[in-house]
Amino acid sequence: MGDVAYLRSLLTEHPDFPKKGIVFLDIFPILRDPVAFETLITHLVHHTTSHTIPQSPSKKIDVVVGLDARGFLLGPIIALRLGAAFVPVRKKGKLPGKCAQATYEKEYGQDIFEMQADAIKPGQQVLIVDDLIATGGSAKAAGELVAKQGGKTLEYLFIIELAFLEGGKKLDAPVYSIIQAS
Ligand code: ADE
Repeated sequence: MGDVAYLRSLLTEHPDFPKKGIVFLDIFPILRDPVAFETLITHLVHHTTSHTIPQSPSKKIDVVVGLDARGFLLGPIIALRLGAAFVPVRKKGKLPGKCAQATYEKEYGQDIFEMQADAIKPGQQVLIVDDLIATGGSAKAAGELVAKQGGKTLEYLFIIELAFLEGGKKLDAPVYSIIQAS
């Protein structure tokens, strides 16, 4: 079995979680299996280092940005493997010091994401990481925070893309996902 089929086989589906009508895709079975977790990280890092990202003048990633909360499980590991900085984007009120803010739409109303104001230097090349892209609202807000600080997002990286929601269309850089779910 190839890497992608192997990782896909470990995902579990939870109908009507966290609310009726949503089929929740759980990535934690992948993280529970060290061989699968290693396969996942190696796949994402290999993609980033071997693939020519269209908008990139050089492929070098300076900063990996991870989204609250499951992006925190992947982002720091990818950052270490790339020799890049890790920067968290968190829900409002969790980060100390001066923060930049961006608003995004959720299923119930709006929420605010924050990034520490000195976290990215102008011109730095950034990879934005999360476990799953649905409507793309939270990824878009993260991209806005990167742009506010003068960073350049080269790519958005996910394990799973709910392709039918076309969240990638909202974003200012290409999306790469290992598994496309319907
Ligand atoms: N986040 C948004 N939609 C999701 C889904 N279907 N499964 C897991 N996480 C999600």
